[in-house]
Amino acid sequence: MAKRWVNDLTHADVTPRNTYLNRRQLMAGFAGAGVASMLGGRLQAAPELEPNTWEYITQYNNFYEFGTGKGDPGKNAHVLTTDPWTVTIDGMVDRPGDYAMGDIKEKMTIEERLYRFRCVEAWSMVVPWNGFELKDLLDMAGVKEGAKYVAFETLYRPEEMFGQKYPVLDWPYVEGLRLDEAMHPLTIMATGIYGRDIPKQNGAPMRLVVPWKYGFKSIKSIVKITLTDKEPATSWNKSNPREYGFYSNVNPTVDHPRWSQATERRLGANLFAKREETLMFNGYEKEVASLYEGMDLSKHF
Ligand code: MTE
Repeated sequence: MAKRWVNDLTHADVTPRNTYLNRRQLMAGFAGAGVASMLGGRLQAAPELEPNTWEYITQYNNFYEFGTGKGDPGKNAHVLTTDPWTVTIDGMVDRPGDYAMGDIKEKMTIEERLYRFRCVEAWSMVVPWNGFELKDLLDMAGVKEGAKYVAFETLYRPEEMFGQKYPVLDWPYVEGLRLDEAMHPLTIMATGIYGRDIPKQNGAPMRLVVPWKYGFKSIKSIVKITLTDKEPATSWNKSNPREYGFYSNVNPTVDHPRWSQATERRLGANLFAKREETLMFNGYEKEVASLYEGMDLSKHF
């Protein structure tokens, strides 16, 4: 499968960030007022994807198992034991079983994916993930005919995840995708960020990333994947079905009952930067719109 969107979005991730920025500032200087004003409108219409810093990505998190403040996971998740780690794959598969994380990583092809990340709370980042296509993992287990959905489950270990001692959500955190969404080449299991192992606060050792959906679909620290023919329950939908649906596709025309989804605050942007317009399917419309042909997305939100 060609990975054209990778090239679309890629950047020199191995270049140390300061060098990278200096080089870009230099180039902007060379371009000067002339070229910039010639291209002005177009440049603004297609803002370049610039990754957020490692610090932002790893210190501003949602991972309620480690507290509900954005800084809590960064402070608390270090106590999580992620080695050894086993992922159970069961349900409608040919080869159900307990797979060791190390074996999974060895078999999968890890690549970089620079993706927009849009939280339902209307903030966004750009993250240089490392990971593999979920499809490859599902193919390894062999999806049986008749399977229609994939259910995911986070580790339940309240001794280490103190948040699970409080009824903030119905633990463990669970999520789900339709099988065609799960098999889509944009859908990955992330095992790294900026070429380093994924930090615990970001969902070590393996978390889902579905870039055209709100961030809460991207379930962290996964221990179980179940193929099923029934739409699986999802944590935020169970907690508040009026506000959070199963699909949760990024959609600027369907507002959250309590706030608009038309714009977003880009984290790390300069203090005076305007809110950015939210893009349909978070900018991945060309790749994924066909999955939802004929569906009323205000009803299936
Ligand atoms: N997964 C688990 N297990 N628990 C959580 O609380 N929060 C979700 C999602 N995955 C969450 C989770 C939400 S609301 C968001 S926005 C993203 O993780 C945040 O990912 P990040 O901290 O890597 O930015």
